Amino acid sequence: AQTSPAPTPPMGWNSWNHFAGKVTDADVRATADQLVSTGMRDAGYVYVNIDDTWQGKRDANGAIRGNEKFPDMKALADYVHSKGLKLGIYSSPGEKTCAGYAGSYGHEAQDAQTYAAWGVDFLKYDLCSFGDQMSAERKAHPDDPQAGEKLMIAAYKKMGDALRATGRPILYSLCQYGFADPWKWGPSVGASMWRTTDDINDTWPRMFIIGQEQADIAQYAGPGHWNDPDMLEIGNGGMKPDEYRQHMSLWAMLAAPLLAGNDLTKMSDVDRSILTNREVIAIDQDPLGKQATRQYEHADMSVWTKPLSGGRVAVALVTSSWGERRMQFNLAEVGFPNGASVRDVWDGKDLGRQSGVFTGVVPGHGVLLLILSK
Ligand code: DGJ
Repeated sequence: AQTSPAPTPPMGWNSWNHFAGKVTDADVRATADQLVSTGMRDAGYVYVNIDDTWQGKRDANGAIRGNEKFPDMKALADYVHSKGLKLGIYSSPGEKTCAGYAGSYGHEAQDAQTYAAWGVDFLKYDLCSFGDQMSAERKAHPDDPQAGEKLMIAAYKKMGDALRATGRPILYSLCQYGFADPWKWGPSVGASMWRTTDDINDTWPRMFIIGQEQADIAQYAGPGHWNDPDMLEIGNGGMKPDEYRQHMSLWAMLAAPLLAGNDLTKMSDVDRSILTNREVIAIDQDPLGKQATRQYEHADMSVWTKPLSGGRVAVALVTSSWGERRMQFNLAEVGFPNGASVRDVWDGKDLGRQSGVFTGVVPGHGVLLLILSK
């Protein structure tokens, strides 16, 4: 049996949120350089993932090639590997990707072999242009209301099997927006992570809603298989620092894959400090692999808890209020009837022993992220 490529949530970078269809070989190399020079690689961000629009035409044997933006995928993989990083790419189970490039339909095994020969380490498989096939399947099986879903799951399994057959560990990431409960069948098709939602964008309301929507599926995350609430927007400019700290904190609490989505060649010190905060990353990467649950929700406030190794618990006090909020929780209710040592993670300060009701101030659209220990 192959060991899981994702004992903890995968970390890296993906081209889509910033570069979208404009990403080039040069951008990917520059990103690899920056992951090293900014300290992000050493903080854990090791996957360099090319999203949609790298694909060219198939050759006479049907083998997929990069397009003019990606003239030599093998050389690019070698470059990324030479930096101590891993390369990810992207395809679709349909004939076309969402951006209209070549998908893997009918070429699944061949594409998996090509990826392995290039040295690819990660595949995001995006459910584009598959709707027609699902509709046709539903029509062909009017007695089976799940016919379309079954066809989709079979398509995901086909690629999962093809990746496994290469013998190369290639982390398999499902992107079908949480449709038909992928957390229930993702592991059975070989996936290490699956998107749970439609796309994020670089606005606080969208990020916040996605974060809150994850509350009911915590039980499906664990070592080797993760709920994926989509990639990070930190550094893309649409949110203020407190909002990006809330974004990073929620994703860490959710044990989400941490895939940065910004232009690393233009990253501010504040954005870098948010993305590379070691204690926040350690919450995400905690070996227990538990996803946070929402303990409490009232008006514009919620309290989330995530059990950590060593009997510790991370607590996130989150607000959607524009202004700062005074928030409280009872230490006994989160497992510390005799009180706890409390650390404020973003401030990097120990707050000493506390017992009974803890009260803290949460900045508007922000977070107070704490670690409690005995
Ligand atoms: C939809 C996905 O959800 C996005 O993350 C991105 O991969 C685009 N497709 C690319 O076309």
